[in-house]
Amino acid sequence: PAGVQERGPLSRLTFADGSAGWLVTSHKLTRTVLADARFSARGELRKSPIRDAVNDEPTKPGMFITQDAPDHTRYRRLLTGQFTVRRMNQLIPRIQEIANEHIDRMRRHGPPVDLVQQFALPIPSLVICEILGVPYADREQFQHDSSRLLNLNSSIDEVKASIKAIEDYLLGMMPGKRSRPGDDMLSGLATGSDLSDEEISTMGFLLLIAGHETTANMLALGTFTLLTNPDQLALLRSDPGLTDNAVEELLRYLTIVHFGTTRTAIEDVELDGTLIKAGEPIAIHLPAANRDPMRFVEGDRLALNGTPTGHVAFGHGIHQCLGQQLARIEMRIGFNTLLREFPTLRLAVPAEQVPMRDDMAIYGVHELPVAW
Ligand code: HEM
Repeated sequence: PAGVQERGPLSRLTFADGSAGWLVTSHKLTRTVLADARFSARGELRKSPIRDAVNDEPTKPGMFITQDAPDHTRYRRLLTGQFTVRRMNQLIPRIQEIANEHIDRMRRHGPPVDLVQQFALPIPSLVICEILGVPYADREQFQHDSSRLLNLNSSIDEVKASIKAIEDYLLGMMPGKRSRPGDDMLSGLATGSDLSDEEISTMGFLLLIAGHETTANMLALGTFTLLTNPDQLALLRSDPGLTDNAVEELLRYLTIVHFGTTRTAIEDVELDGTLIKAGEPIAIHLPAANRDPMRFVEGDRLALNGTPTGHVAFGHGIHQCLGQQLARIEMRIGFNTLLREFPTLRLAVPAEQVPMRDDMAIYGVHELPVAW
């Protein structure tokens, strides 16, 4: 983010389609924009700062991440109760069990293993599948489409095909959720709300993608970061009580939703003395905001015992991450279990050979070969 920060808190930016817009890099303005309803999140108004492929179809009912109030409110409210700290805490034993199973599998396989495929991706995938009531056995199908969707080099047609494939897959499950409801979220929405099958499968799509790609990349990139910062790793190993703070600091320092948080002014807005005209897009650089020197002292340095409170890795305002408590629990259990079970965990290849996800909408590592 250093180069980006040099542009100042608010600067002009040409978006991928050539339209003139804005870039926000400061922590203060990030929060201001994300909390102001005059900056719309609506999908059909969205432009991308780097990606040519922007879905130009009208936002589907239920895709609440790209809807404004009151539509957004209606859908989000139906889910809020399901994602409370209390509900998420009830999942702890099961998430621990899943983590243990994957550690056992890694042991049986023996080093080296790819931590992405053997640990970081399966844990959140299995958890979100169980929450939603989607068979984990089908993961290859939706993980493939999900990667294609998030790949910055995918064409608009590939993006649309990926969305359609996952939504059709979920839609096909809906008759069963209505006739033989289980104790899962899709069944709950089918029987406990007046939403259509299309709306529920669209919400399911959002939760499925947001629920596994993000945490998976935090677990893998977080582990890579710990293994390449031995002093910080030693600090955490010497005091496991530091884990919750370490998770927040890794969220801040890594900020894997590295771009794509965009909004569009729906009326003229004066922002910090500058006029943003109605219709102009505005890109929020969350990684820059999370290292803003005005907000975080020595923000470019990883300090697991520092004070990362107030970071915006989960966004801010009405769209602030719905799954943040779940993500926190998955990371706490994931890092704790991994470090406890493998006291000699190390990279199995030189750090420079680890392939970074520069080509993906969610940052991370493609593979993480580890040994112990
Ligand atoms: C929204 C980050 C995990 C579900 C967001 C946003 C960010 C974010 C930055 C705001 C997007 C915007 O304003 O445009 C993350 C990170 C995660 C994570 C860094 C992991 C470490 C999860 C999980 C779930 C989830 C596990 C699953 C249930 C959602 C949903 C939204 C969202 C549904 C849209 C909320 C709304 O529009 O009201 N997330 N997320 N996220 N996240 Fe997450």
